[in-house]
Amino acid sequence: MASPYEILGVDPDADEAEIVDAYRERVKETHPDQGGSTEAFLAVKTAFERIENGWRPGDAVPESDVPGAPTGTTDADEAAGPAEPSEPEGVRVEYLNYEVMADKLWELTDDDLFEKAADGGLTPEDYGEFYVRDSESLLEAAERQGYAWPFACRGGACTNCAVAVVEGEMPSPSSHILPKELHDRGIRLSCIVAPETDAKIVYNVKHLPAVQDLLLPASRFEASSSTD
Ligand code: FES
Repeated sequence: MASPYEILGVDPDADEAEIVDAYRERVKETHPDQGGSTEAFLAVKTAFERIENGWRPGDAVPESDVPGAPTGTTDADEAAGPAEPSEPEGVRVEYLNYEVMADKLWELTDDDLFEKAADGGLTPEDYGEFYVRDSESLLEAAERQGYAWPFACRGGACTNCAVAVVEGEMPSPSSHILPKELHDRGIRLSCIVAPETDAKIVYNVKHLPAVQDLLLPASRFEASSSTD
């Protein structure tokens, strides 16, 4: 039975930086948008969390750590969605899925957008909150919660990971593909930004027409993703 270290592909004596690097690589490899599966993606996330929480070689390996194995969650767990950390650390982000907005005819400019989302009975995949730690991008924080948000290049070049910042400060690094007009409208690339203040964001805005024009297909980055 594979241990958390084996699932991440690192030696048991790997240091924290090596473990984090391996985790990010495995997240890319197992992401459903990159040809992976939800089960494998969640197994990688669980393995990383177990190591972070002090799992050591010799400890028992739960069945749920094996890629493809049942997660061991109950129906109630599934309904509740990914667990929040017990002691939130970092900057709070409230998120909403753009695809839900399209279904409900909500607009990014609606003053009460997040109030409607909070009252809308949405699933945790579509609406909720999490915390972004110091060393993380917004995308990495979402993945740490078990959310498979869209991405392709993870380097600010393809716009697949675009989000709209409705509230809060989220500056971009100098190098990215977004034109100034979109940046001024609050569009950001979740793979290369992190919030400086508590924020409200809409993810999946790659479906916005102005963003869609800039999209590079994920297939352009599959080769580099598997060999980075
Ligand atoms: S994943 Fe390509 S810009 Fe973020």
